[in-house]
Parts: sequence; C-alpha cells; structure tokens
Amino acid sequence: MPAFEIDNKHRVIQWNVALEALSGIKKEDVLGTEGQWRAFYYEKRPVMADLIVDGASEKEISAQYQNKARESMLIKGAYESEDFFPSLGDKGKWYHFTASPMINNEKVIGAIEILEDVTERHTAEENLRYYIGQVTKVQEEERKYLARELHDSTVQTLVALIYQLDNFMADKPGLTENQVAKLKGVYKSLKRAVEDVRNFSRRLRPPVLDDLGLIPVLEWLTGELKKSYGVEIAIEINGEHRRLAPDLELTLFRIIQEAMINAAKHANVKSANVKIYYLFDSVRVEIVDKGEGFNLPEKIGSLPRDGKLGLAGIAERVELLGGKLEIRSHKGEGTTVLVELPVK
Ligand SMILES: Nc1ncnc2c1ncn2[C@@H]1O[C@H](COP(=O)(O)OP(=O)(O)OP(=O)(O)O)[C@@H](O)[C@H]1O
Ligand SMILES: [Mg+2]
Repeated sequence: MPAFEIDNKHRVIQWNVALEALSGIKKEDVLGTEGQWRAFYYEKRPVMADLIVDGASEKEISAQYQNKARESMLIKGAYESEDFFPSLGDKGKWYHFTASPMINNEKVIGAIEILEDVTERHTAEENLRYYIGQVTKVQEEERKYLARELHDSTVQTLVALIYQLDNFMADKPGLTENQVAKLKGVYKSLKRAVEDVRNFSRRLRPPVLDDLGLIPVLEWLTGELKKSYGVEIAIEINGEHRRLAPDLELTLFRIIQEAMINAAKHANVKSANVKIYYLFDSVRVEIVDKGEGFNLPEKIGSLPRDGKLGLAGIAERVELLGGKLEIRSHKGEGTTVLVELPVK
C-alpha cells in the first residue's frame, strides 16, 4: 500500500516503493523536501498528513475535502477521506487515505499517511448509478408511451364502439326488449371500460403534470386516493409556487405519489398531510401521517428483495438528482418522509 511519513516541519522522512510506483516520484528525490503534494496534485497544497501535523480541526480538514473527511474510528487523532486524483494513473484514480499523527512525549512529531486504491469500487458504483438512472428514464418513457397509446388508441376505439352501439340502438332495428336490455348492459360495460382505461392511463403518466404542473396533479391524486382508500390528504404550499424543470416535477410527483399511496395503504389513517416548500434554490417536501408506522430496515436498498419497490425507488430518485432524503417512522407513531431536491 502506498504510504509516506513527514516530520513536524512537513518534510518527507519515509516514501515507500508502492508510492514511488504510483506517483512516479523516487524516494531520493522527495526525502527531506516538502514535496509530498507533487504525488497527488498539480499545484502545491497541504495533504492530509500536513493538516494533521498542523493540528487542524475537524472542520478545517473537512473543508479541504469537500466536507467528506471524518475522524478515524480505529486510530485516535487520525482522519480519513476519499477523493479523486485526476493526475494519477491513466484516467485518474480514487483513493481512500488515512493520516495519523506520530506522537512522542505527548507531542506531535510527524504524521503518517496510507493510501488505498478504491477506483474499482467507485467505477462499479458509478456504473450502477448510471444504470439505475437509465432504467428509471426508460421506465418513465415507457409509461408515457403506454399512457399515450392507451389514451389515443384503446380509448378512441372503445369510444367509437360506444358511438356505433348508441346509433344502432337509436335506430331500433326491430330489437326485442330482451335484446335491448342486453345491449344496454354491453353499453354500460363499454363505458366502464373507457373510464378504467382512462384512469389507468392517467395513473401511468398524468397529462396534467406536463400541462399544468405539480400542484394540480397532486390535487387530482388526492381525489383519487379519497375515492380508492377513503383517506383525506391535505396539501399545503409554502413559498413562491412556480413551475420547475420537467424532470424535477416528474421526480417530485413520483416521490409524493409513492409516499401518499404508502400512507393511504399502510398507515391505517383517515387523513395525512403533504407540505411543499418552494425555497430559493431547492424544493422541500414533507409527507406526514400519524398512523401505524413501521420499523425502518437498516438499509432501504434491502426492501426490493421482498418485492417492496416504493421507498427504494424514492431513495434512488433523490440520489439521482443530488437531493436529501430522510424517512422517520416508529411503530404506532406514524411516518414522515422528508425530501429536499435542488432547483437549478
Ligand atoms: N406511511 C407508512 N405507514 C406505515 N407503514 C409504511 C408506510 N410507508 C411504508 N410503510 C412500510 O414500509 C414498507 C415498504 O414500503 P414500500 O413503499 O417500499 O413498499 P410497498 O408499499 O409495500 O410496495 P410497493 O411500493 O412496491 O407497491 C411497506 O410494506 C410498509 O410495511
Ligand atoms: Mg409503496
């Protein structure tokens, strides 16, 4: 594993073979200098070992690594982080690194830093994320296509049939009463089929979302849930309500739709609340019920194994848009889903 040591004057005192190979910098060229940064950066800046020697605070250390550094759980006074180094390897590399102080007579006399190549893991994660993103996109496109086909083709065919049947019955071509009654039955079934297909199509991809935006479509959804589950969901809007990018509106709708349906299906309540906050550069949503609640699994990502796709779907969508998600639930105390998505 690549590793090096510096003394408390930031001078390199150890530089191992693995680090020579990684950085292309020979031990004899760096020992005694303050050139450790050359292995990782194009310009001079402190590396983590330097920050440890300087006794930097957690906040100061974190600030150097996009707030992603944390205190080591294994070694006292040590810090660890992960970062991408574009200058390493062919296409850059991801490294996990830990720097710990060397202490003698309670004084920091230097620091040692060890690096671990985690590029493969990062690449795998990136690929997975990309794949999930593509699947979500294709799924939405498919839904849109199905919704439109159903609406434009199936519904139109059924409507034409109703029209023909209507005309046929109006002409009364010597039908017996019994036959008329049967045809009326068929007529009714056709009408119901049209309604069913229309509703199904709307649920797949509400056209109101594209035409009028998030709030009208949520109002429509509350009506649907009242009809299907008898649950009254109140929607409260805070801040300056505005249209958002289509992607963002769709994601928000899918998240709120899932959380609202969950509240209606699982919470065993008569009412629930949705609060939407239109903030300056983000939108925050809270879906709250005071129902039965549940024990959250340690990892949301483990739910799909039991055929539960809703919450994991929310988590993925939030992640894809770089947002924040919090799910609070306790048995008997209800459930709150909090989502904040950035608005570009
Ligand atoms: N508001 C809620 N109140 C009570 N329990 C809930 C609530 N939301 C989720 N749950 C519990 O968490 C589980 C996981 O929810 P999730 O939405 O992932 O799956 P699902 O609703 O069961 O199925 P799917 O969403 O795939 O149709 C649910 O099965 C339910 O037990
Ligand atoms: Mg669900």
